[in-house]
Amino acid sequence: MRVLSGIQPSGQLHLGNYFGAIRQYLRMQHEHECFFFIANYHAMTTLHDGPALRRNSFDAAADFLALGLDPERATIFLQSDLPEVTELAWILSTITPMGLLQRCHAYKDKVAQGISPDHGLFAYPVLMAADILIHRSELVPVGQDQKQHVEVSRDIAQKFNSIYGDVLTLPEPYILADVAVVPGVDGRKMSKSYGNTIGMFEPPREIEKKIMSIKTDSTPVEAPKNPETCNVFALFRLFASESEREDVRRRYLEGGIGYGEVKRRLVELVLEHFREARERRAELSANPEIVRKVLARGAERARESAAITMREVRRAVGV
Ligand code: ADP
Ligand code: TRP
Repeated sequence: MRVLSGIQPSGQLHLGNYFGAIRQYLRMQHEHECFFFIANYHAMTTLHDGPALRRNSFDAAADFLALGLDPERATIFLQSDLPEVTELAWILSTITPMGLLQRCHAYKDKVAQGISPDHGLFAYPVLMAADILIHRSELVPVGQDQKQHVEVSRDIAQKFNSIYGDVLTLPEPYILADVAVVPGVDGRKMSKSYGNTIGMFEPPREIEKKIMSIKTDSTPVEAPKNPETCNVFALFRLFASESEREDVRRRYLEGGIGYGEVKRRLVELVLEHFREARERRAELSANPEIVRKVLARGAERARESAAITMREVRRAVGV
């Protein structure tokens, strides 16, 4: 199958991105033909700071490689290296009903938070549809929050095909249910836009400080606790072995375990889990040309793939 996914470089990548997205990418690159990209055009809907966007985009690519995405197996590229995607976004926007975009959660949520919407934020799902459809992607691994956008991409493709014939491939979202939403240190969804993230490549002391600050209730050590509603346990279970997880779950239910103890163990587990990745990440920071080369090759391959779709699309719409 042909797999594609992207992550916005609107800040540093975090544990939510890792469990919600990147971990699936790592597995899928061994099983499918994969395209993974840094959605820097999308990040511009929230970040209007050139140097920061450039830095974050590079960092995200280095993070991808450090975490194990393999440029020999997957095409890794920067969205803006494929300008055809904005051309396709325009073409798709001419057949996308307003109502479809008005119903999108990401847009509705931001408006509800009082962020005054600009056209880019509103049209964001159309650009995302272009990202997906331009490579004839079949499976799109994303976190739960992006499921609706993939469904919108499918609706747009269907509408296009109903007008112009069978040109675009219909994509499907691919979601891992048990880690659908990773909580941040304040218990809300971990997200760059909430400032509640824990990054894989932050200095160990920073990771420790953040984990120790995870919000819990004030149940005393001796009292039984509910692991299912605990933010610390929600993260702990992602890193612990099955036996350690079940042991800690039992101690929550029986009482006698304090949140501080679980947090300290979580710090160790997080640092251990990413130890090799952190070493590779440091090497890439010291040798940025390795990352640039990977992106240049990825861009070339992505453009070859996009050209195939764009030829068909232009012919179909008459330009
Ligand atoms: P952010 O919310 O930090 O801006 P993005 O929207 O760029 O993150 O998300 C990139 C990918 O990571 C998407 O596939 C998204 O669904 C996934 N993701 C982001 N945050 C989480 C989370 N807290 N839990 C699970 N998956 C997440
Ligand atoms: N909108 C996605 C997010 O915020 C990022 C993204 C852009 C994406 N284009 C995509 C994800 C195409 C999957 C496929 O997470």
